[in-house]
Amino acid sequence: MELLKNIVAVRNYVSQAKKEGKSIGLVPTMGYLHEGHLSLARKARAQNDIVIMSIFVNPTQFGPNEDLERYPRDLERDKKLAEGARVDAIFFPSAEEMYPSNFATYVHVEVLTEVLCGASRPGHFRGVTTVVSKLFNIVQPDRAYFGLKDYQQATVIKRMVEDLNFPIEIVTVPTYREEDGLALSSRNKYLSPEQRQSARSLYRALKLGEELIHSGERQVEVVKEAMSKEILAHPETKIDYIAINNAETLQPLDEINGKILLALAVWVGSTRLIDNLVLEV
Ligand code: PAJ
Repeated sequence: MELLKNIVAVRNYVSQAKKEGKSIGLVPTMGYLHEGHLSLARKARAQNDIVIMSIFVNPTQFGPNEDLERYPRDLERDKKLAEGARVDAIFFPSAEEMYPSNFATYVHVEVLTEVLCGASRPGHFRGVTTVVSKLFNIVQPDRAYFGLKDYQQATVIKRMVEDLNFPIEIVTVPTYREEDGLALSSRNKYLSPEQRQSARSLYRALKLGEELIHSGERQVEVVKEAMSKEILAHPETKIDYIAINNAETLQPLDEINGKILLALAVWVGSTRLIDNLVLEV
């Protein structure tokens, strides 16, 4: 496996692969890899000749009071895991490589970024779409892989690719979960054993919401209230948002109908976790 530390190295690697007529799959990550990331890599492996994974803790998508500094990092561990998933090359740029001091250009997707995590984390998606645009331009992949655990992120990226005519296919991958339903996340590392127990409340609340809807409940507030109670029954939890929105437009619903997104963001101690389910009603 190759470790490509700068943009020139990626360009050389990719131009060689393209000369040989090989297809390229890109898996963008912030590292501290887990099975969720690896499920993206495996899907990319199955669909492309070359798999490139980027590992970059992107400063522009973190707010001033967020966890950029303490975000977990472990390149040696990531290299082994990526190699195990048969990744061909890791792109591991420095912050200066991606954002030189005179950097001044950002990509902003409107509307879709104003709700859900976009409302709680101003500027977050601008950082995501900017870095992903840069990665797309640097790597020029045929396909790029995104997890549905970050459903809004995947939706925003698809919008951007269509609007800006990136010749790239966006492939989404289902959320990879622990046995008890907790979605894998690099941030789960922050949880104490007690908080890890409380973190189960996210998936439980989603499943409760799903159950109520499947048994005929159509009032948004009734479902949200039940989900909220389930979460708050666990110690150290605080709700950032619970949303029942249209799964395509991401806008809030008055009545539960069609393809819907149940999404939530919950603080467990000082760790913010997100999860979602998509239902056809
Ligand atoms: P990161 O949180 O490292 O996630 C990288 C990719 O892995 C994302 O597409 C995310 O949705 C996916 N992923 C994370 N946990 C998952 C799980 N449990 N199951 C399936 N997929 C999962 O998302 C980012 O990084 C960044 O915003 C990035 C796109 C790299 C831009 O900086």
